[in-house]
Amino acid sequence: MPSPAPEKIPQHVAIIMDGNGRWAQTRGLPRLEGHRRGVETVRTIVDAARELGIRYLTLYAFSVENWKRPADEVSGLMGLLDYFLKRELDNLIKHKVRLLTIGRTDALPANVQRELKRVIDATKDFTEWHLVLALNYGARTELADAAKHYTSAVLAGTEKLAECSWENISRYLYTSAIPDPDLLIRTSGEQRVSNFLLLQCAYAELVFTPVLWPDFQKADLQLAITEYAQRERRYGLTSEQIKTGPR
Ligand code: FPP
Repeated sequence: MPSPAPEKIPQHVAIIMDGNGRWAQTRGLPRLEGHRRGVETVRTIVDAARELGIRYLTLYAFSVENWKRPADEVSGLMGLLDYFLKRELDNLIKHKVRLLTIGRTDALPANVQRELKRVIDATKDFTEWHLVLALNYGARTELADAAKHYTSAVLAGTEKLAECSWENISRYLYTSAIPDPDLLIRTSGEQRVSNFLLLQCAYAELVFTPVLWPDFQKADLQLAITEYAQRERRYGLTSEQIKTGPR
């Protein structure tokens, strides 16, 4: 499949990896088997994103709401995360991919936190490629955390209420060091954003694919990018202004 021109490649792609459960259920397998296959797709897509020139890849791996799933599914997902981090470290180092996280990671099991720290530390000097895992993430929780830290800064006098702006407040989001997503993909045919990067996706292009996450391949990512490349991003301007520049 021909790739879009380099300037049409999104800098940051965020993905809601959905459909693991249905993939397993249609095969008469336990849900966790779907998540296991989902982890294989994660590796495929991390490599594919880099090969396509995507500098930031953010994956919604565990939401604040996911704790309410059956206990064995939650512990299975935590086990897979631990396994993934142990297995992927060499691959990330080999390809100079920096691991970052967003979310309340301090509530994850101790072994997962330990592995995360190990991989984050080992990859912290890489600057070109970034894998961002959203873990115990929720956009509303992120906003509450940012508001708390911003308010503390105002009370301490390091922020001035009169200078309150998006630029200043966004420095308190988990994503302060990460550019906004250009493209948000959700797999499995569901068409909603499920409390994921709600503020950061203000101007993102959305692509929904019916492909279930365990079946999602490099060609599906390329297809989504081709669709993205055909869109006109207007940021509130008119089509005319985008072509000739604002006047
Ligand atoms: C949604 O599918 C998927 C999740 C809630 C978890 C995603 C996790 C992985 C892909 C594996 C672990 C991730 C990493 C980075 C190691 P679903 O279970 O809601 O599917 P369904 O809608 O078909 O039930």
